[in-house]
Formats: sequence, C-alpha cells, structure tokens
Amino acid sequence: MPTALITGATAGLGAAFARRLAADAYSLVLVARDELRLAQTADQLKLRYGVNVEVLPADLATDEGLARVESRIREGVDLLVNNAGFGNAGHFPHVPVDREVRQLKVHCEAVLRLTLAALPGMRERDRGAIVNVASVAAFFARGTYSASKAWVVNFSESAANEVGGPRIKIMALCPGFVRTEFHQRASMDTSGIPGFLWLKADDVVREAMRDLALGKRVSIPDLRYKAIVAVGRLVPRGLQTFVSSRIGK
Ligand SMILES: NC(=O)c1ccc[n+]([C@@H]2O[C@H](COP(=O)([O-])OP(=O)(O)OC[C@H]3O[C@@H](n4cnc5c(N)ncnc54)[C@H](OP(=O)(O)O)[C@@H]3O)[C@@H](O)[C@H]2O)c1
Repeated sequence: MPTALITGATAGLGAAFARRLAADAYSLVLVARDELRLAQTADQLKLRYGVNVEVLPADLATDEGLARVESRIREGVDLLVNNAGFGNAGHFPHVPVDREVRQLKVHCEAVLRLTLAALPGMRERDRGAIVNVASVAAFFARGTYSASKAWVVNFSESAANEVGGPRIKIMALCPGFVRTEFHQRASMDTSGIPGFLWLKADDVVREAMRDLALGKRVSIPDLRYKAIVAVGRLVPRGLQTFVSSRIGK
C-alpha cells in the first residue's frame, strides 16, 4: 500500500485529502498540533476505510516539530501533501512580527524542508508526488499571506523543473475560498464574499488529484477561479489589487 503524509490533516482541506486518499487505499500519516483531534480523525478513517493511519503531532512552526516530521518522511512516503496553513487576524503592518514569522515558517520553511526530506527517497524509488497547498491569493498582491503563497507556487514550479517528471510529480494547489475552519480561526469577516465564490473541500481535492494525475504543475480548481486568475493576469496590478480587495480577504 502506498503511504501519504498530510500536514494539517484534521480539518478543512487536509481532512478532505485524508478521506480521499484513504478511499484510494493509501496508508496515512496525519500531522497537526491537536493530539486528541488527530486520534479521533485517525479512528474515524480506520473505521470507515480500513486503512492504516499513523498520527504525528507536531507544530510545523517549530524546529522540533519540523524535525520529527522530516524524520518520518525520510522513512519513506509516496505522497506528501504540504497543506497546513493559517491566516493571521489583521493586516500588514499591524500583525505582530512573531505571528508573521510563524506563518512564513508553516507556509514556506515547512514546505521547503519537508519537500527536501521527501525527495531523496522518491528519486531513489523513481516515483512519488508532492502537493503544496498554495492559494489563488498567490496571484494577487494581498499582503503577507498572498506573498507566502506566491512563494509556494514559485517554489513548486521551480522544484518541478529541477527534479520533477512523469514519475516524480510536484504540484502547487491554488484553491479560492473554501468552506473550512480557516476564516473563523483567523477572525476574518467573510460577509463580503459572494456565495458563488465558495468551494467545497472535497470538490477541491477531487480536482487536485485529477490535475496531479495529469501531471499539472499548478492546479486551480474550478472554472470560476481559472477565469479569475486568467483575467487577473490581463489587468494592471493596481486595478487587480483594488478589485480583489472588494471581495473579501
Ligand atoms: N479555506 C480557504 O479558503 C483556503 C483558500 C486557499 C488556500 N487555503 C490553504 O489551504 C490550507 C488548509 O487550510 P484550511 O482552509 O483547510 O484550514 P483549516 O480548516 O483551518 O485547517 C488547518 C489545518 O492545519 C493545521 N495546522 C495549523 N497550524 C499548524 C501548525 N503550526 N502545525 C501543524 N499543523 C497546523 C490545523 O490543525 P491544528 O490546529 O491541530 O494544528 C488543521 O488541521 C492552508 O495552507 C490554507 O492557507 C485555504
């Protein structure tokens, strides 16, 4: 059975990846900070899908947490989903610097280090895949969150250019607004986001897995967001930023 390690696997998109990969008969390694919730998630997946599930509690904003996950990855994983992430309440330059740095550690340092931990084994076996969860925000200049996600997209494409191929796939996943715990955790007001822009986590994961199988390097689930990104690339950056600031954070 292939093994998938998913960070941020207890809620939202990570939990949707866990359900999908369990249904595809992957053995799972679930990473998040909340140990009780990890254990409950693992029990539900084992019961429903009959797969092996390991839990690995770790805070990816810490060296110690990252080292534990790196060490498990070096034992061998076939699919790595770098999904853990969060938004900070407030906007640059009013967010305290320690929270900004935590976000960079989880969004960028963890993605870099866990990818580096996974690649040697994947190259030795000449197979494997890495999905780095970025965001549609990566294509717009909307503060430090979007800047960190732009790094994830650029890094994933660069890594795919350097070491990717038909048997080692590296893909950035760029969802739009998804109904998860993300916005509530970041105390974000979502009342300005039109209903038609919300995606379901399971739909995002289904499209991501299809794009991964097709060998895409950047996946933008759903036609609505493909269109938004395409139009965004055509208009001047200033106008793009103004319009995107009108439709939520
Ligand atoms: N929801 C959206 O609209 C949206 C849109 C585009 C991109 N994204 C991206 O999608 C990814 C998943 O977000 P989501 O919406 O599914 O969020 P979510 O529902 O809030 O889930 C976040 C998950 O990450 C874990 N996590 C958070 N900080 C962590 C840390 N320091 N170390 C380890 N695990 C951590 C959480 O568990 P613990 O709290 O137990 O650690 C939880 O399992 C993120 O990278 C996010 O930026 C989300």
